[in-house]
Amino acid sequence: MKIAIIGTGYVGLVSGTCFAETGNNVTCVDIDKVKVEKLSSGQITIYEPGLEKIFLRNIKDERLRFTTQLEEAVEDAEIIFIALPTPPGADGSADLTYVLGVADHLGKILNDYKVIVNKSTVPVGTADKVSAAISKNYSGEYDVVSNPEFLREGVALDDFMKPDRVVVGTKSERAKQLMSDLYAPFVRQGNPVIFMDKQSSELTKYAANAFLATKISFMNEIAQLCERMGADVDMVRRGIGSDDRIGKRFLFPGIGYGGSCFPKDVQALIKSSDEVNYEFEILKAVEKVNANQKLHLVEKIKAYYNNDLKGKHFALWGLAFKPNTDDIREAPALSIIDALILAGATVTAYDPEAMPNVKAQIGDKIQYAANQYEALQNATALIIATEWSEFRTPNFERMEKEINNKIIFDGRNLFDLTNMKDLGYHYESVGRSNA
Ligand SMILES: NC(=O)c1ccc[n+]([C@@H]2O[C@H](COP(=O)([O-])OP(=O)(O)OC[C@H]3O[C@@H](n4cnc5c(N)ncnc54)[C@H](O)[C@@H]3O)[C@@H](O)[C@H]2O)c1
Repeated sequence: MKIAIIGTGYVGLVSGTCFAETGNNVTCVDIDKVKVEKLSSGQITIYEPGLEKIFLRNIKDERLRFTTQLEEAVEDAEIIFIALPTPPGADGSADLTYVLGVADHLGKILNDYKVIVNKSTVPVGTADKVSAAISKNYSGEYDVVSNPEFLREGVALDDFMKPDRVVVGTKSERAKQLMSDLYAPFVRQGNPVIFMDKQSSELTKYAANAFLATKISFMNEIAQLCERMGADVDMVRRGIGSDDRIGKRFLFPGIGYGGSCFPKDVQALIKSSDEVNYEFEILKAVEKVNANQKLHLVEKIKAYYNNDLKGKHFALWGLAFKPNTDDIREAPALSIIDALILAGATVTAYDPEAMPNVKAQIGDKIQYAANQYEALQNATALIIATEWSEFRTPNFERMEKEINNKIIFDGRNLFDLTNMKDLGYHYESVGRSNA
């Protein structure tokens, strides 16, 4: 099949590469010229484990191309995917400028029946808005389909190639057939392609992310209780997670959810609810809990140093909003950096993949280390903000040579409390007693 992908970021590049891998001819479009030049010359623009290998293979086999020209990409395409940003607008609702701008452009260049698939996360009613924008200039046949994306950065390839489910919102039999054919190689193990109406499909994505954000915030509140009551959140997590109705996943407390999706999608669903005169009270609380949790570790640090961080220097392990990605959008590490600097402290950070993105965003506001051990030099204490595997099992002997003070504030509960005590560390984590 011939496919066009509009927007070649985290979702567009992974989707395009995976569709090429299953034998389709894919052209990815982006307005960012530098990005398109890099991709065309075989340089991958995001860090996503396993992606580079199949990206290069499909470029070599001429199934994957990149362009800045929308016309060139959509001319022969049977299916056109929209994978554009939907950032929060000033009032918190999803900003549809990118999506509707492209829809308007598509209306001017469509020449034949095509399926336009919205993969961006968009509020209920957007598919109809996209249709209206296309119809202004195009009176031929086409279908607009909702197909929200559920991939997780860091494991995106696996998520895309073997999805738990594929959700498709359309009532058009013609579009259903094309979407079934396209996704057939991805659901060979029997995972469902769930067809539904567009509104339900659009809402499914928000419901999924809002539910997961709620689960995280719930556990963060349980962690707060654990700290006050002398309980251990790891034990409580294991105790409740073994109940099938609850499940083991997404029960890890930490320093608040971040990333490009949960914060904006929770905000957008609250806003969409307001628009239909429904106050989504749980989600409002989830947002509030998360905002507090993002600064919880800094509060602990301040308490330990009697509210005086002036002149203190912190080593920070982890900048990405989660491991195995270079994405720093809404990363809790950035909130921690801001709070520390505001309090008069300085920071040297290390992250295996995200440092170039942080440098581009905040420059020399902090210093950057060549590795996790170098970051420890002259530090008052170590702060851990992202659970990269290499931080889980550090070389403690090497750490001891670099670190001045054996003090760790761990936002990801990486280490065993007894081990840390035996090693002589003052070790504070989330929802676990230091005793
Ligand atoms: N990142 C994720 O993990 C994830 C997962 C599921 C869903 N989503 C949703 O998918 C959508 C895209 O997210 P993303 O993380 O891939 O965003 P991104 O910012 O990484 O990528 C978007 C790309 O679109 C390009 N672009 C902007 N305007 C354009 C235009 N007019 N024509 C062509 N290209 C244009 C940008 O240059 C950028 O490369 C969002 O709605 C997001 O909520 C993201």
